[in-house]
Amino acid sequence: MSKTIIVSNRLPIKISKNNDEYSLSPSEGGLATGLGSIYKRGDNVWIGWPGMEIIEEQDKNKVTAQLAEQNLQPVFLSQDEINEYYEGFSNDVLWPVFHYYASTYANYKESNWDFYKTVNEKFKDAILKIAEPGDTIWIHDYQLLLVPALVRTHLPDVSIGFFQHIPFPSNEMFRLIPWRDELLAGMLGADLIGFHTFDDVRHFLNAATRLLPVTVSSNIITYGERSVVIESFPMGIDDKKYASLPLEKSVQSQAEIIKDTFKGCKLIISIDRLDYSKGILQRLQAFELLLQQHEEYHSKIALYMIVVPSRDSVPQYAQLRDEIDKRVGNINSIYRTIEWSPIHYYYRSVPVELLSALYSTADVCLVTPMRDGMNLVSKEFVASRIHDDGVLILSEMAGASKELIDALIVNPNNTKEVCDTIIKAVNMPLEEQQWRMQAMRQIVTKFNISHWVKIFMDKLKEVKQFQRSMQTRHVSGATEQSIINRYHNTNKRIIFLDYDGTLVGFRSDIDQASPDQELHYLIDNLVADPANDVVLISGRKHENLDEWFGDSKLYLIAEHGSWFKQNNTTWHKISGLSDNWKNDIYPLMETYVDRTPGSFIEEKSYSLVWHYRKAQKGLGELRANELMNNLKYLANDKGLQLLAGDKVLEVKNIEINKGRAALTILDKKSYDFILAFGDDYTDEDLFKALPESAVTIKVGSNLSAAKFYLRNPTEVRKLLKSFIQNIPVNYSM
Ligand code: UDP
Ligand code: G6P
Repeated sequence: MSKTIIVSNRLPIKISKNNDEYSLSPSEGGLATGLGSIYKRGDNVWIGWPGMEIIEEQDKNKVTAQLAEQNLQPVFLSQDEINEYYEGFSNDVLWPVFHYYASTYANYKESNWDFYKTVNEKFKDAILKIAEPGDTIWIHDYQLLLVPALVRTHLPDVSIGFFQHIPFPSNEMFRLIPWRDELLAGMLGADLIGFHTFDDVRHFLNAATRLLPVTVSSNIITYGERSVVIESFPMGIDDKKYASLPLEKSVQSQAEIIKDTFKGCKLIISIDRLDYSKGILQRLQAFELLLQQHEEYHSKIALYMIVVPSRDSVPQYAQLRDEIDKRVGNINSIYRTIEWSPIHYYYRSVPVELLSALYSTADVCLVTPMRDGMNLVSKEFVASRIHDDGVLILSEMAGASKELIDALIVNPNNTKEVCDTIIKAVNMPLEEQQWRMQAMRQIVTKFNISHWVKIFMDKLKEVKQFQRSMQTRHVSGATEQSIINRYHNTNKRIIFLDYDGTLVGFRSDIDQASPDQELHYLIDNLVADPANDVVLISGRKHENLDEWFGDSKLYLIAEHGSWFKQNNTTWHKISGLSDNWKNDIYPLMETYVDRTPGSFIEEKSYSLVWHYRKAQKGLGELRANELMNNLKYLANDKGLQLLAGDKVLEVKNIEINKGRAALTILDKKSYDFILAFGDDYTDEDLFKALPESAVTIKVGSNLSAAKFYLRNPTEVRKLLKSFIQNIPVNYSM
């Protein structure tokens, strides 16, 4: 039976050593806690680091056996690897950059990068050892960005999902990393890449477009020969676990103690791993401001703050721990009374029973990270509020704020706002607490961890199926041979050829894409065969096609079917059409040329094309959308069609299209083999208009009405070449 192999830097269970004995305990952090409750389903295996260096071979064996009982497989790291790959590259480069702390904390050390590569290889080896055909490999988080591509090299067809649990930053941040291209290429080895929020998806698409030679169509990136889907999947929690824990005796008895201790006080809780991204110092500042400015709340509120130890061997974390200690000490020493302490601070991890008792008894949960991929603590608090009361204050910088919109949303940098919001929260009427909490609980219940796993896995299957169907549609092997055979076994053939993107690649200068020697050779040989009618069907101007192919025996169709020229005769224009609409549209388009450096207008008989291939990346797309919206209603009124193409926006008379143009030829003569090639939206009309028996071939791997596809003009030329007999061997390309 096929299995899912989960791979993350850290296993959900960590090892520690006391008196020569190894003991296991749950790991901290959202990835481990979130996935930890569901990974055991089926035959799944989880590969990861057990959290400490183990040197002796016999100890490694012992630990391996202990972990195997829980379907866990360790990857052992040496102290150097821990220092350089984990503390160094992962937590001293990627973590700060991805959380927008590049200038303060990122430290780009070449040797860290070398170790990162080596350890990613180590994880790849561990995967290859157990992966079998049909398995799904699900790789997690920023420590393993290279693993998808490393595995892909060895298992080209395997299903690989990648999920990043932390934010993906804007390209302005990401591009600071010296090894940015390798990191992106590593991730793109996956079939599906998931992030918590749509912003992360947008940032990733943007970075990939700017840094790698990829093509992007909505959320699909084509890199080399592979298409990778990028989507957001906001991670959920085990809602049932957190809703049932408060009903357990052990939790209730701890809840009673907490209630008793904080009698007469509004209890505010704050729970995070030790991390500068969590905004702990800024939170303390807001709390201190409240105590300074609102004496009436002294003895009436208390902050119960748990900071879970994390990465404290990384210097910034150790320093942060000391600063928190100092800050809490200062505040308490100023405001404490004999009966009351404003802050109850614990630097330790707590068992889930105490966590649940806190979640279910607190009046307010204060979650104010400066940046957070998701933040599961906020969701766990909501799921624990089985009486629909309590108030969540949530930073707008946490991924969770996109879903929990009924929380009190704050900007964690705005100390005054956080302070005022705490006051609002402790005074919130029960009715308001309830409608807010009910709405949030519905979200947390519906989008729980099982839902998250299901939609990610369903999407991965869909992507894989799409890729496989594309594989069978690719003109190669048996498919290619059968097309070639059909060609040779027929003698009344018609071949429709689009030009740009089909026979030649795109150039930033439209006049530069003139036909080369090889293309002339191919076309001359095709038309030389009396069994062939060859039609060049293009959106280009007729003057342009005439200059290039006017003397050949081709049938030329220009401007999507506005102009025709049959084998060396004269051009004639389609009759009965008006171009008066240009008087209104041209000046409007011109305003876009004025505002978008690098863009220009191409005028044809019955169309106007706004080209933005040379405009600044991003700006061109933005303006094209704007222009599209501007033209939408105007186009309807005037009987025009808007076509968004590859870095162009074309407006043309609706009556003209390549499908109609092709049918006028097919009406005059019958053929026993119809073959059509095209690469963009205008060719779709052609593919749809041709009879069922036609062989239609799309160039590029996007969705299409064509039956087959080829990847690029080179593959098109190769197929055309195989139609022609007796190509001179020494012919230079
Ligand atoms: N948590 C923990 N040990 C504790 C307290 C909390 O493991 O002593 C858990 C908490 O329940 C939550 C996770 O740590 O599931 C923190 O996840 P979150 O997404 O909030 O932040 P991350 O640590 O992943 O940045
Ligand atoms: C975050 C990261 C996880 C990481 C966790 C704990 O949740 O997304 O990948 O495991 O923090 O950090 P640690 O460095 O202790 O594994």
